[in-house]
Amino acid sequence: MYTNVLSLAVFAGAAMASPCKPSATTSVPAPSSTAVAPGEPFGLMALRSASPIHFAQFGAAQSSIFLNLPAQNATCDDGTKPTEANYATFTVTEDGELYLFRRSATPQQLYVDRSGMGQGKLGYTTGAQPAPRNGERTAFSLDENNNLSFNGAGFIACPNSIDGAWSVWVDAGVSSPGGNSDCLGLNARAVKIADAANSCLYTS
Ligand SMILES: *[C@@H]1O[C@H](CO)[C@@H](O)[C@H](O)[C@H]1NC(C)=O
Ligand SMILES: *[C@@H]1O[C@H](CO)[C@@H](O)[C@H](O)[C@H]1NC(C)=O
Repeated sequence: MYTNVLSLAVFAGAAMASPCKPSATTSVPAPSSTAVAPGEPFGLMALRSASPIHFAQFGAAQSSIFLNLPAQNATCDDGTKPTEANYATFTVTEDGELYLFRRSATPQQLYVDRSGMGQGKLGYTTGAQPAPRNGERTAFSLDENNNLSFNGAGFIACPNSIDGAWSVWVDAGVSSPGGNSDCLGLNARAVKIADAANSCLYTS
């Protein structure tokens, strides 16, 4: 069901990719717009045609980000269906900070480690936990087509991670990060979640 919601939304977004801009008098997108605004919850879908990860959804668990994760085991608030949702919900701020969406508590925050050790490691911190030593927390941005980038870079996914999932990295110029092999580059497309976004604490 969730897969269908996100797939339909991404196709609707593709169909609207022509000059269909909200009014300039407000920063809030018109109701018909599919552009994701700062603070709006969204899912992320991998685009890499003719591959096992085309249209795969981004999941969050164990302080890392994955594609095709069968179970995130997140703890979710108010009626959301934690164990059934197999994708993570994100928000981005105007300042380029990326969070895992949570309505009340301190949301978990994404970081990227582009150091020689990190090789593009994409992870998240929980609560008041500071970013790791070489972790960068800003420079995430969504373009007008909801294409997510980090400081202008796209993403890489590597197979054979936990539960058969693919681990997700930022493209820091290392094509096989973390000692992996058979990794693939991908674009990350944000797909707006109109209502009933899952508000969750993901495992750390
Ligand atoms: C989720 O829990 C199941 C059952 O305990 C476990 O097999 C699986 O590895 C867990 N997934 C993650 C991503 O931690
Ligand atoms: C999406 O963003 C990535 C990283 O900036 C870029 O390489 C790619 O060309 C963009 N894709 C589209 C369709 O704009």
